Amino acid sequence: MDELKSIIRDIHDFPKKGIVFKDITTLLQDAKSYHRMIDLLSHHYIGKRVDKVIGVEARGFIIGSALAYKLGAGIVLVRKPGKLPSETFSKTYALEYGTDTLEIHKDAIKPGERILIADDLLATGGTMSAVVDLVQSMGGELVDCCFMAELEFLEGRKRLPEGKVFSLLKF
Ligand code: PRP
Ligand code: HPA
Repeated sequence: MDELKSIIRDIHDFPKKGIVFKDITTLLQDAKSYHRMIDLLSHHYIGKRVDKVIGVEARGFIIGSALAYKLGAGIVLVRKPGKLPSETFSKTYALEYGTDTLEIHKDAIKPGERILIADDLLATGGTMSAVVDLVQSMGGELVDCCFMAELEFLEGRKRLPEGKVFSLLKF
């Protein structure tokens, strides 16, 4: 795990002064590391029923779609406003830096479907907590919130359902 962690680089003062941004692109662009990351994440869910994986725009798409393929599940897109073509439900949330809104197609989740939500990184938990709200309000059954990496000092997991958070690389 330390090897994978060491490939993620720190970018100082991005996107704002004072923030040390964990840049995961260095891990994604390394074939062996990306493959290992997806294998490790998907192995965590082998034997559990997952009907659909949600990928959270934008970096969550990269993790979510690979996981969905591995688990034999559908992939649902949660997107920034105005990107989804059909009718949507939306939720506004606070970020580590600013606020944002996320949208999901109204017909993307049926009541009782088992949903795994995937994103690249857990920071304050604002983004994931908004997606959990969307899933629950639509009647989906949350399997887990799954991340490549977690910034533990921001305590984002406290904002998420207990026992439903899995992250591979902890900083
Ligand atoms: C980043 C990251 C997570 C979220 C984590 O996305 O990919 O989705 O922030 O922060 P939080 O736990 O404090 O909510 P961002 O909104 O920067 O979007 P992007 O993937 O489109 O760059
Ligand atoms: N890295 C990537 N995404 C993020 C970060 C970070 O440090 N903080 C909030 N979203």
